[in-house]
Amino acid sequence: MTESHFVPKPYSVNIESGTVTWSSPSNIALVKYWGKRKHQIPENPSISFTLSNCKTITKLGFTKRELSTGLEMIDDFSFEVFLDGKQNDAFKPKIQTFFERVEAYLPFLKAFHFKIETENTFPHSSGIASSASGMSALALCLMDVEKALMEADGAFSMTEKSFSEVFFNQKASFLARLGSGSACRSLEGPLVVWGEHEAVEGSSDLFGVKYPYKVHDNFKNYQDTILLVDKGEKQVSSTVGHNLMHGHPFAQERFKQAANNISEIKTILETGDLDTFVKLVESEALTLHAMMMTSMPYFILMKPNTLEIINKIWAYRNETGSKVCFTLDAGANVHVLYPENETETVLKFIKNELVAYCQNGHYICDVAGLGAENIS
Ligand code: DP6
Repeated sequence: MTESHFVPKPYSVNIESGTVTWSSPSNIALVKYWGKRKHQIPENPSISFTLSNCKTITKLGFTKRELSTGLEMIDDFSFEVFLDGKQNDAFKPKIQTFFERVEAYLPFLKAFHFKIETENTFPHSSGIASSASGMSALALCLMDVEKALMEADGAFSMTEKSFSEVFFNQKASFLARLGSGSACRSLEGPLVVWGEHEAVEGSSDLFGVKYPYKVHDNFKNYQDTILLVDKGEKQVSSTVGHNLMHGHPFAQERFKQAANNISEIKTILETGDLDTFVKLVESEALTLHAMMMTSMPYFILMKPNTLEIINKIWAYRNETGSKVCFTLDAGANVHVLYPENETETVLKFIKNELVAYCQNGHYICDVAGLGAENIS
């Protein structure tokens, strides 16, 4: 499959206005995406747990634009962005870039003025990336608009009255990826793979796919408690970090390792081998940060409290035999992962020993979930 699969046949714009609303969660990678080629193609496959509670809710209003003569070409996008009810121009450049990247696949984009109203369930300045949930929610809203337009235009055949669910999700994930790579893994759940890999049937560099194999009950409702170590803005954005993998001395080995880890995690997910899971997930987290530390220029996103927490988790595991482990994304916050049957004990441990290292004692309890929802 190539990108052209997602270029629609021409259809006319027969709807004057409307509103669609989607909620879409964040996700936490177990095997990390770090390094990409042109057009948001990942250098290696990745897999993540979709979250439940950390999500973005986006309402997209669209109104057909007036043309005075009907003949002039419109060569700009028209949109406004509201965060928590307040106009927010800081998001506009990212959305402008997103619109430019997806216009070839959504030919109606310049025909409408869009009002994008978005809110996150997690605090705005929590250091939790909102790009995965935000971009996936927006991509789903835009897919809904395309679906409505095509239905109104009679663009579907009598037998196929609309998009199939599979195509709708694939294209929405494809669009989300063009907004932010990891966003393509937020639409479904509890596990999503992005990036072509021979061991995962249907996997693609172009979009995320729901993990298609048997998953052991040990991973049911897997818990993720996010410890907010540093709520500030990151000094180095993910996009800059990805680019530093070009010409990175360890890049090729890292990409190979990630691909091997996808094969390995497939066995782990099937057998429910939590000890091997812990090793793989923590190694992935530390490798991600090792790549940052060995980039040129090098940088460190972990904070002293990130390391304090990691050491506490290791000590707790040694003492108790717990299967709790940590992972990190591109920041200082720590995601504490553990099986559902340890919820009570691990939460006690977190409250007693880890909360002290969180900024203002803040943390968020989340759990693997099923992905985005249409709440129009
Ligand atoms: C460390 O998806 O935020 O969280 O594609 O440039 O928007 P862009 O990057 P982004 O990178 C996320 C990287 C990561 C690992 C992961 O989620 O796989």
